[in-house]
Amino acid sequence: MSYTVAVVGATGAVGREMLSTLERRNFSVMRLIPLASARSAGKSVTFLGKQVVVQELRPESFAGVDLALFSAGSAASLEYAPLAARAGAIVIDNSSAWRTDADVPLVVPEVNIKAAFNRPRGIIANPNCSTIQMVVALKPLHDAAGLKHIVVSTYQATSGKGHNAVVELLEQTKAMLAGGAPRSEVFPASIAFNLLCDWKGGEGGYSEEELKMVRETRKIFGDESIGVSPTTVRVPVVNGHSEAIHVQFHRPMTADEAKRLLRGAPGVELMDGPYVPGGHPQPLTASGSDAVFVGRVRDDLAVPGAINLWVVSDNLRKGAALNAVQIAEHLLQ
Ligand code: A2P
Repeated sequence: MSYTVAVVGATGAVGREMLSTLERRNFSVMRLIPLASARSAGKSVTFLGKQVVVQELRPESFAGVDLALFSAGSAASLEYAPLAARAGAIVIDNSSAWRTDADVPLVVPEVNIKAAFNRPRGIIANPNCSTIQMVVALKPLHDAAGLKHIVVSTYQATSGKGHNAVVELLEQTKAMLAGGAPRSEVFPASIAFNLLCDWKGGEGGYSEEELKMVRETRKIFGDESIGVSPTTVRVPVVNGHSEAIHVQFHRPMTADEAKRLLRGAPGVELMDGPYVPGGHPQPLTASGSDAVFVGRVRDDLAVPGAINLWVVSDNLRKGAALNAVQIAEHLLQ
C-alpha cells in the first residue's frame, strides 16, 4: 500500500523533520500534501528529491488523505484535526491541543502502542518532547520495579520553540559577541548566554510545560499515582533536549540493575562507561540521531533504592517527528 500523506506545518522546524523522517524511513508515500499558513502558500519544500508546492491549510485540504501529521500549533490542530479525521485520515497531532482528551490516545510506541488502536475521535496525540524521551528511558525500569516518584530537571533546546526561536538565539549570540544588546521577540529575554523559563504559566507557580510532564507521564503509563516533580529550563542549545532525572521505585533499584534493564531496551542507547569528563550523552552529538541516549546511571547517595540518570535526545526527532512517524508505521505499514 502507498498513502496520501498531509503534513500540516510543513515549513516549520518539526514539519521539515517530519518530511525528512518519512523519507529516511521509506514510508510509502504515494502523494505528499505539504500544508502551512497563507504566508507560505506557493513556496515549495523538497521531498524525495522533488519540489512540492506548499498549500494553504483549508477545511477541504484533507480529501483523500490517509495520514495527516499535524505540527502547526494548538489553534490549527483544534480547528483542523477533527476535519481531517472526519475526512477519513488517521491524524497524529504534535501539538498539545488534544493530549489530555480522554478520547485521544497519547502514544509513545516503545511504551503504549496498543493505545493507538483505540481512537474514538480518529486523532492520536504525540506527547511533549521532554515527556517522550523521559518515558522511553523509564519504561524498562517501570516494568521491573514500578515508578513511584520522578524528580526531573530539563535543559531544553531552542528548536523546541520553533524555527524562529533558533534564529533568535543565533542573532542574539552574534549581537552580544559584537558588543551589542540582544533583541528579544520570540523569547521573553535573551536566551543567548542565559537560561530561561519561557513557557506560559500553569497553576501553582508551575509552567504549562512542567504540568505537561506530570499529566502526560501519568497518561502514557496509565498510572495516576506516579509522582512527578518537574523543573523545565530553556538553554542556549540549538537542538537536543537533556534531562537530569531522579527516580524512586516501589521496590529498591540499583544502578547496576537499571543498566542491565536499559541495555538493549527499545529506543534506548545506553552510555555506561566509567565517568570521564565529557563521556556522557550530549545534545550536540545526539542531534541528528534517533535514539534516546541514557548515561550517568548512578545509585542515589541520599535515598536508598533510588537512582539518577542523564537522558538526552533529539527533540525534533524522537521528541516529535520520529515518534509521530513510528506511530503511523504501526498503523499503516
Ligand atoms: P508558516 O511557515 O506559513 O508560518 P515553527 O514551529 O517552526 O514556528 O513552525 C510552525 C509551522 O506551523 C509552520 O509551518 C507554519 O506555517 C505553520 N502554521 C502556523 N500557524 C498556522 C496556521 N494557522 N495554519 C496553518 N499553518 C500554520
